[in-house]
Parts: sequence; C-alpha cells; structure tokens
Amino acid sequence: MQRGNIKLNNPERFNDGFEISKEKLNAAIKKATDKWLKKLEEFNGKFPGTMSKEEDKYVLGENNSWTQGMHTGSALLAYELTGNEKFLEYAKQHIESYYWRYENKVDMWCHDVGFAFSPSVIALYKITGDEAMKELALKAADHFRTYIYSEKGGFILRSYTRRDTPDGCRTMMDTLMNIPLLFWAYEQTGEERYIEAAKSQLAVTEKYLIREDGSSFHHYMFDVETHAPVRGLTFQGHSDDSCWARGHSWGVYGFPVAYTYIKDESLLPLHRDVTYFMLNHMPKTYIPYYDYDFVEECSEAHDSSSALISACGLLEACKYLDETCEEYNIYKTAANKMVNGVIDHCMDYENKDFDGLVNRVTCSAPHNLCIDGCTSYGDYFLLEALVRLTKPDWKRYW
Ligand code: GLY
Repeated sequence: MQRGNIKLNNPERFNDGFEISKEKLNAAIKKATDKWLKKLEEFNGKFPGTMSKEEDKYVLGENNSWTQGMHTGSALLAYELTGNEKFLEYAKQHIESYYWRYENKVDMWCHDVGFAFSPSVIALYKITGDEAMKELALKAADHFRTYIYSEKGGFILRSYTRRDTPDGCRTMMDTLMNIPLLFWAYEQTGEERYIEAAKSQLAVTEKYLIREDGSSFHHYMFDVETHAPVRGLTFQGHSDDSCWARGHSWGVYGFPVAYTYIKDESLLPLHRDVTYFMLNHMPKTYIPYYDYDFVEECSEAHDSSSALISACGLLEACKYLDETCEEYNIYKTAANKMVNGVIDHCMDYENKDFDGLVNRVTCSAPHNLCIDGCTSYGDYFLLEALVRLTKPDWKRYW
C-alpha cells in the first residue's frame, strides 16, 4: 500500500507555531507534582487499580495489571521534574513487586508486558544504573518474546493463554508500545530474535491494522489454527470500522519509537498518515472523544490520555525530523495544543476532587468503564509530556 497520501484538511490550525509558555508549563508542573507528592503518601506503597471508580477515586491494590508500570513511571518522571528524592524512593519501594510479578507471572501472559516493565524497571535502570533492573527487564523481555509472540503468524498475541480462541488470537494497536521492550532487549543483547519479532509486529500492524485513510482498527483477528488474517474489529472503540482514539495514539507514539531503533524510512510517511488522520478529526478543545467518529461537540466520553500519548509521540518525532520540514512545525504545534488543552480542561484540582493528575480519561466506553475519570496512563503521560516540553535531553523510558 502506498503511504504518505493523507492530506491535512486544516493546516492553518497546526502551522501557527503555537507553544505553551514557560510560565504555564512550570505552573502545571508545580501543580501536578505537589498533588502527586500528597497522593503518593496516601497510596502508601500500594498501586492504583487500572482506573478510577466511584467519584473518580482509585482503588488501591497490587502490581497486577497493565497500568502499574506507568504508576511507578509517574513517580520517576516527578523525580526528574523536581529532583525531589521522595519520588525516587517511592519508585524504588516498588522494585520487590516487579520481582514478585515476574516470578509468579502475574498478568504476564498477554501483550502488555512492555507496559509493565518499560516505564518502571527499564526507567529505574536508566536513572540509577542498577544492573539488577537491567537483568530483570531482560528476563521479562525473554518471556514476552518466547511466549507471547506467534512464530506462525509473526505477530504478538493478545493473550497466550487464550491463543486458541478468537478472543486471544488477535493483535492490536496497543502492542506498538509494548514492542519497545523487544527493541531495547536487542540493543542490550544483540540477539536477533528480539529485533525480528519487533519488526514483524510492525509489518503486521502496518499491513492489517492501519487502513488506507490513515485510521486504525483496534484489533485484528487471526485464525486460531493457521494464524492467517481474518478481519479487523474493535474492543474499546465505537464500532469495528471506527478509529478508537487511544488505540490510534499508541500508533502516533509507537511508530516514532520504532523509527528511533531501526531507522526504517518507510515508517515516516506511515506515521504522517496516522497523525494527519488524527489531526483531521481533532475536536476544537484538542481533547479527543474516545473515538474519532466523534469530532463535533457532543456528549460522548472524552479521552485526554490519547491527547497526551499522541503529544509525546509527536514530540519524539520532532527529535529526528529536520526543523525546516513541514511536519516538524505541524507536529510540534499540534503537541503543544493538545497538552495545552489538557492543562486547561483536565487539571481543575481546585473544583474537582479526582484522584489522578488528569481527568476526562475513558478506559472503555462500550464497557461503561471509567467514563471521563482517571487512570495511571493519564497520570504518567501528563508528566511525560511536561518532561518532554521542558527537558529536551530527557532519556526516554521506552
Ligand atoms: N489496553 C490498553 C488501553 O486501554 O489503552
């Protein structure tokens, strides 16, 4: 398929060079990290569950699902933003739970292993140089590569334990942010099996999940016997043929990360198509609804996390794009507008008592799960976006 054909319908919205002022960024950082210092004390070593529940409050528990790595990562980002050692100590208190998780294979039999280990254990390794963290992350990568990758289909399964069912024998957009664990493991070990699997997952994603108009299916199902392609469908989006905003944002971020590891030039027009589809469907507030079927003002659920994840991806792409090219200006401006939208519309701590750092995050609208609430990925990607906009030399955790 020829990529790079999608036109931006509204270039004037994204080429005015808008940048959030330093004062506004610093105020947002102070506001978020002050709140986080208090909240982390309240959480007291426990992890927020996957999403907020009643009254936008987190239910605390163990390190046992896909979002907890991002909770640890949020403390590390707060440490990088403030230099306050309390944040680093908080993250270090979680280390035992990652050993427990690996040894007992807690929520380790699915595509989410990278979400659990990259922004936590690899991040700790990058920040502290602790070789034990590298060793643990490599064990997680080995497990991910050995069990969750289908040699037959050349893709990462949604679930190894349910691989013999149509529900498990799928691959999905989310996996684009799990394969950095494989790229990183290749970089550390030189073992080809890691890079082969990651590249194959990229190729399968481009072929089956990214449509010609730059939009994405959330899931793609494969035959349980042969692992041959069957059809695209959704899980958290509005319909099988629509484009689920957060799933799409995993691509807006995942493709630039992949590019930095493998420098495959074909990823650039692909990423531009995916980005321009998103920008052509961006509501006026720059806070997407949960699905790009909804653009005009309406009562559908929002997903501010998808704006933050996408902003991080666009800022990552700006690191390798030439500053004079059209995309550089558009990506940088769009990222600033999305983060600005989140600061303006999703951080009203004064009037709304929610547990996370941002609200208006929807976990799954079709399942009526956490509508316009808080999640650890919203918290994490707010802080990552603020780090990216204020610390250009920051070393990415992914
Ligand atoms: N399961 C990944 C997500 O909800 O984005």
